[in-house]
Order: sequence, then C-alpha cells, then structure tokens
Amino acid sequence: MKSFLTFIKSQGIFYGTPKNLSYFWNFGSLALFALIIQFLTGIFLTFWYIPDINEAFNSVEFIMREVRKGWLIRYLHANGASFFFLVVYCHVFKNLYTLSFTEERMWTWFSGLLILLAMMFTAFLGYVLPWGQMSFWAATVITSLVSVIPKIGNDLLIFIWGGYGISQPTLTRVYGLHYLMPFVILFLFGLHMIFLHNTGSNNPLGFFIKSADELSFFPYFVVKDLLGINICLFLLFFVFFNPNYVNHPDNYIPADPLKTPAHIVPEWYLLMFYGILRSVPNKLLGIIFLLSSLFLLFLLPLTIETKTTGTLFRPYYRRVFWFFVGTCLLLSWASGKSVEYPFFEICKITTFFYFFILGFLMPFIINFENRILLGNLKSRNPKYKAPRFKSKYFNLIETNNPFKRKFPAVYTPSIFKRQSIFVD
Ligand code: HEM
Repeated sequence: MKSFLTFIKSQGIFYGTPKNLSYFWNFGSLALFALIIQFLTGIFLTFWYIPDINEAFNSVEFIMREVRKGWLIRYLHANGASFFFLVVYCHVFKNLYTLSFTEERMWTWFSGLLILLAMMFTAFLGYVLPWGQMSFWAATVITSLVSVIPKIGNDLLIFIWGGYGISQPTLTRVYGLHYLMPFVILFLFGLHMIFLHNTGSNNPLGFFIKSADELSFFPYFVVKDLLGINICLFLLFFVFFNPNYVNHPDNYIPADPLKTPAHIVPEWYLLMFYGILRSVPNKLLGIIFLLSSLFLLFLLPLTIETKTTGTLFRPYYRRVFWFFVGTCLLLSWASGKSVEYPFFEICKITTFFYFFILGFLMPFIINFENRILLGNLKSRNPKYKAPRFKSKYFNLIETNNPFKRKFPAVYTPSIFKRQSIFVD
C-alpha cells in the first residue's frame, strides 16, 4: 500500500511536467476521459443487449424506447465512439506536428499506434452489434477481405464467420470480442503511460531543462485537463440535439442478407483507410496499400531522425504537416461519396499524396531542415566545428540567436542566450 501511494505521488502528483505545455496537450487526457465514458456506458448497454441475430436489432430498440434513460446511454456510447476518435486523431496530429514521435518517444508512439489499431477493431465490432443493414454489410465487406490471403484465405473466412455466411456464431464472437477489446486498450494505455513517464512529455519549444522548466502535475495540469474536459462536454450537444448526426440511416433497417444497400460506408473515422483500400482496383493490392498506410506510421520514428523537435524552428515541416492534414481530410471526404467521377479520382490522388508525404516528403524535409540548422550555425561561427551529421548530441554554447537570420519569422527564446541547446 505504501509503495502504491509513493507511486501515485511520484507519477500523478509531483510528476515533473514542462510548464509551457499548450492546450494541444489536453487531447491525451480527453482520450482517457472518452475511454472511461465508453466503459461505463458500454457496461450498462450489456444489461439489455441480446447477442442473437433475431433479437439484437429489437433489443437495441428496446433500450431506446423502454429502458429508463436507455436512449441516453446508447447515444452517449454511439457518439462517445466518435468523440473518442476525434480526440485521438487530434492527439495523433498534434504529435505529428510537434515531432513527439521521434527517437526518444518512439515507444510511446508505437504503443499509441497499437491503441489506434485496437480502437479501430473495437469500433468495427461495435458497429456490427445493432444488426442493422450497415452492420451486416460492413461485416460482410470487411471480413471477406481475408479471403484474398493465398491458400488459407477461404478457410480462414469460414473460421471467422463460424459457418458459411455471417450468422449467429459470427454475432456471438463479435460480441465477445467487443467486450474484450476495451480491456486490451486499457492495458495498452498503461504501457503508453509507462513509456511516456520514462521520457517525460515533449513541449511546444521542443527542448526542456529539467527542474528549471517543470511544474508538478498536480494541481497545475490536473486543473488544465479538467478545463479541457469541461469544454469538451459539447459532446452532449450531439447526444441531446443531433444524436444521429454521424450515424447512417440504413442502420435503422434490420439486417437483411438478401438486400445489399446501395452504398456501404464505414463510420467517418475509418473513411480515410477505407478510401485507401477502395482507390486500388485490385482487392489484394488494396489490402496491401491499406496495411502499408498503417505500417508507414510505425516507420516514421525510424525514417525521421532528429533531436530538435520544436516545429517552431521548422517552417518547411510546418507547411508539409498542413498539406498532410488537408490530404487526410480530402481523402476521408471523398471516400464517403459514391465510387464515381470525381470522387474516385480524388481518392486516388490523395492516396498517392498520403504515401508520398509520409514516406518521402516528411523525412526529406526534416533532414533538409536539420542541414539548414547545422549550416546556419556554422556560418555564424566559422570556428565552430560541426560534428558528423549522424552524431548523437552536441552542445551549442553562446549561439546567441542562431536562427534569426535564416528564419526571420521565428522568435528565438531568451533561453538560447544562456543555455546550450541540442541539435542532432
Ligand atoms: C486511448 C487512447 C490514448 C490515450 C488515452 C492517450 C493518452 C495520452 C496522454 C494522457 C498523454 C500525455 C499528454 C499528452 O501529450 O497529450 C499522451 C502522450 C502521447 N501519446 Fe497518447 N494516448 C492515446 C492514443 C495515442 C495514439 C493513437 C498515439 C499515436 C499514434 C499516441 C501517441 C502519443 C505520444 C507520441 C505522446 C507523447 C506526446 C508528447 O510528449 O508531446 N497516443 N497520450
């Protein structure tokens, strides 16, 4: 008990946190808040949901109409899933922007990506449970993807379905896994925090001097996180006033294996990856592209090498980053439309840019900026001997505003004048 309290004190109360964290660092705690909402509402839904292909749809309607506050719990869970993805995507993009995924925080990034994969799987399983038209056909489309695996594909599909089509055994196992996965996410979240606390948080400047630049987590950041949670209660606007905003109307039609809906689309948060899958005409190639798009995110810490993580000093990377955000938004938007001109073409072009930016442009620009930063420092001080480019760290003392001439728009904090900075 004593050691538990010591642990809470050191990691939750006195944990040293950079004092210049902006509100963009709130998305992590918001994601945890969303996970808790999903856990709590999910447990109450299981009291009434019936995982039977003849009863599932009606049991959801029963929750909505007959169970006391059932509509509230269900809408909180359904919209909570969207909210969860929204804050996690913001969290991921913030980490891309601030280069929080590089070398030092590589394992935090990897564990985060595993959480993202687990979330996608869980959300897909949850979408199947109401057993509406979209549930049934989304399950059909996605599970059929395994049939492209050479030799074992068809057998694997029958194994997953638990028969020769999507039926009762499929729903039973979807329900079982949907119950299990949040615990996997919770476990991964624990790992995520262990890795994060091992290195400490990044911050908007990208460098940090221990003890001089930190504040204790409690009360400063607890209060800041609570403020973020309060603001994000706008989620309740959707729950009360527009609960089906992101839902597909076809999912209010009971599943019918004999009637394929005109357009089968996943929820908005999976559209980007669905778009990548769809923009390649060959099924096997599409799956390879889909997997590679996720794999590229895992590769980022290995392809991008830098110790200076502050994007404040990287004007080119900032532009590439916003180009990437635009690409992802456009790809998601076009993927939700039918497969016809111009949406299909937009999907193809943005898929190309997705790979181009993550696979080439981002690593290239970071490397290029690394060189400019080094070259700039050299030209300011001819006596300065630059280390080999690949060397680990080196100290720059008395640089006195080294970035000002090359990047006039960049503000140079006073800290440069009195401290050494780390450049890769
Ligand atoms: C259930 C989902 C998640 C939860 C609850 C969560 C929670 C957190 C929290 C509380 C922090 C510290 C505060 C902050 O920097 O925002 C953090 C940091 C971080 N997370 Fe997550 N996270 C989740 C998903 C992800 C995902 C999907 C990724 C990446 C793919 C990711 C990557 C990172 C990284 C790199 C940091 C360090 C950020 C920094 O130091 O600036 N996380 N996470």
